[in-house]
Amino acid sequence: MNQSILITGANTGLGKEAARQLALKKETKKVILFCRNQVKAEAAKKDLEEQTGKKIFEIIIGDVADANSVRKVVEKIKEPIDAVILNAGGVVGKTAAKITPSGMNELAATNILGNVVLVEELIKRDLLKKTVLSVSAEAVPGVKMLGMKPVAMKTSSVDEFAAVLDGSYFGDKFEAIQAYGYVKYAATMWALSMSRKYPDLKFVVMSPGNTGGTNAPDSLPPAMKFMLKYLMMPIVFPLIGGMVHTLTVGAKRFVDGISDERFKSGVFYASAAGKLSGDVVDQSTFYTDLKNTSFQDNADEAIHRFIDRA
Ligand SMILES: NC(=O)c1ccc[n+]([C@@H]2O[C@H](COP(=O)([O-])OP(=O)(O)OC[C@H]3O[C@@H](n4cnc5c(N)ncnc54)[C@H](OP(=O)(O)O)[C@@H]3O)[C@@H](O)[C@H]2O)c1
Repeated sequence: MNQSILITGANTGLGKEAARQLALKKETKKVILFCRNQVKAEAAKKDLEEQTGKKIFEIIIGDVADANSVRKVVEKIKEPIDAVILNAGGVVGKTAAKITPSGMNELAATNILGNVVLVEELIKRDLLKKTVLSVSAEAVPGVKMLGMKPVAMKTSSVDEFAAVLDGSYFGDKFEAIQAYGYVKYAATMWALSMSRKYPDLKFVVMSPGNTGGTNAPDSLPPAMKFMLKYLMMPIVFPLIGGMVHTLTVGAKRFVDGISDERFKSGVFYASAAGKLSGDVVDQSTFYTDLKNTSFQDNADEAIHRFIDRA
């Protein structure tokens, strides 16, 4: 039972909806909203209090793309937390390729850097008690019907992961939407490696599936945003079936991932092969690189090359 939960990127989208659903659980005593903007965080807290009738939300301000900002956040945390949902992330938009002080580009820093620092600093201080849920995506195994190719790294070596994290892997052809799957693959492999390093904690990787009602499309190029928001999400995906669901359904995957014993440590759960919605399945049954423990450890080592200098 998780009494206290911290969620990164909790002021909107899936993070906020997961906060709402968790607050309605009997056992929940505290939900910490980790957000980068005080005004947006206050607005989300007020809204969540109104929607749930619970005054159990706390705000903590930090930027997951900045390791030092996250270290300062952890210094302020005095009581142990049962579960952490590493939700902050996305395709990031125009600044995705920009190199941050860590050496990671903004896309990787947002999806990985601060989320990893948060977990590792909490563990170091004995402030993390039970579960970490790392948010991934079906972009990793790909979705054939939509022409989304699976992530296919040649060797998954430390150097190759490091090149994904600073963007050099993609040469001059960096496109955030393509790099996104590779960055989520690195984040996923890190979490799987952590599940072996810390067998007393539960590390679950979960994709929310293709979820409507979030701000995710806003970071896409205008034409793609328009097509996704007004054509694909409301018309095309529902017609195909098994391709889209609501915010309530997407966020429930996170809630189940940390609360339900059926979800095991060291497993990446997402939609069935070729789908973006429906029941979740263990992705390693058809995307077998996930099982390779050397690849997992390589992702961990590559991430630490950047964390050590951030
Ligand atoms: N929506 C989908 O269909 C889908 C599918 C697969 C995976 N996912 C994953 O699910 C997660 C949530 O996505 P979403 O669709 O809910 O997106 P969203 O509506 O854009 O929400 C993203 C959240 O992350 C926060 N965030 C971004 N950068 C941050 C930073 N540097 N520091 C702190 N917080 C930061 C945002 O804060 P601001 O409001 O301040 O920007 C926002 O609260 C992401 O990891 C995404 O990759 C989503």
